[in-house]
Formats: sequence, structure tokens, C-alpha cells
Amino acid sequence: MIEVSDAIQIVQGRLSERRFQHSLNVAKLAADLAVSFGVDSEKAYLVGILHDYAKDLTADELLLIAEDNGIINNEVERQVPDLLHAPVGALLIEKELGIKDSEILEAVRAHTLGSVNMSILDKIIFLADMIEPDRKAYPDLERLRQLSSSDLDAAMLLGLESAIRYCLNLQLMLHPRTVSVRNLFLQKIAEL
Ligand SMILES: [Fe+2]
Ligand SMILES: [Fe+2]
Repeated sequence: MIEVSDAIQIVQGRLSERRFQHSLNVAKLAADLAVSFGVDSEKAYLVGILHDYAKDLTADELLLIAEDNGIINNEVERQVPDLLHAPVGALLIEKELGIKDSEILEAVRAHTLGSVNMSILDKIIFLADMIEPDRKAYPDLERLRQLSSSDLDAAMLLGLESAIRYCLNLQLMLHPRTVSVRNLFLQKIAEL
């Protein structure tokens, strides 16, 4: 398994200074949340460092890699290639860094759209990405920060709804998986 210090160096070489700092922030917050929710905090830190591994690739590069590897699931991904930075990132850290740990790969893959059956680690990375300290203010941010420390499922519901509202407000394409994962969390919470 890759050393955290090596992962930090590699990511620093791939990302802009601002995105590198974002990755460090996500890693630190994810590690803290992992301690609170009883999962492996070193792994959470490593996923935080690696989650945006493919974020600074161009739209054309993302599309090419995704097409070559047959990982496009929906037409929206061709129209908004940035969405592919999550699954392409998972693919590249496996190929280029030799990471085989399926929990790490899945948490990277699911960090923008979510997925069905999200693990605690998946939720922690998804949320840490949305609430890290340098995130610019948005309407649900403070509530999302509070919920993330107490109830990951309630926080996921709010995070997904916030992402959906953002897309609607700016008339951006909405990925159907964001909607279906939001519905799953809504049902999950209603069943409690
Ligand atoms: Fe990302
Ligand atoms: Fe991110």
C-alpha cells in the first residue's frame, strides 16, 4: 500500500495549489470524522488526499480515458465531463499507484454523485468534500457541517438536495444518479 507521504507528494505534483490545499483539508476532516464514526482514520486520510486525483485533467482527457475504459454510465457524463473526475480518479489511482483496496477505490469513485449502498467511508469522503473549511459559503453549508458530525445519513440527504438545488438554480445538467441516491437516503431516513 502506498505511503501517505508519497501520496501527498504525488497529488501535490498533479493539482493546482488551491486544489492541493482542498485535498489536504478533506483528508484532515475525513480522518476526524472517521474517528467519530469508528472507521479507519488513516484510510480516510489517504482517500481524502487522493479523491481529486483526476480533477485537473481536461474535459477531453477525462472523456478519452472514460471512453477507453468503458466507464461512462450516462449521456450527462459526456456533456459534463467534470463529473468523470471521480470514476477516472479511481481508475487512475489503481493503474498508476497500484491501489487495490476496493474501499478506497469506491470512496473515490462515489465522491461526486454518491452511490447505492454507500459505506461509512464513502459518506465521510462525500461530505468532507462538501464542508471542508475552505469551501466558499453556500446556503446549506452550516447546517451540513452540523449534521455531518452527528448523523451521516441525514447529512447525505441534505448534501444531495443541496447539490440538486444548486444545479436547478444555475440551470446545470442534473445527473440521474444524484436524484436516485437522494431518493434512497430519503427512504432510509423515513424508515427509521
Ligand atoms: Fe472531486
Ligand atoms: Fe474535492
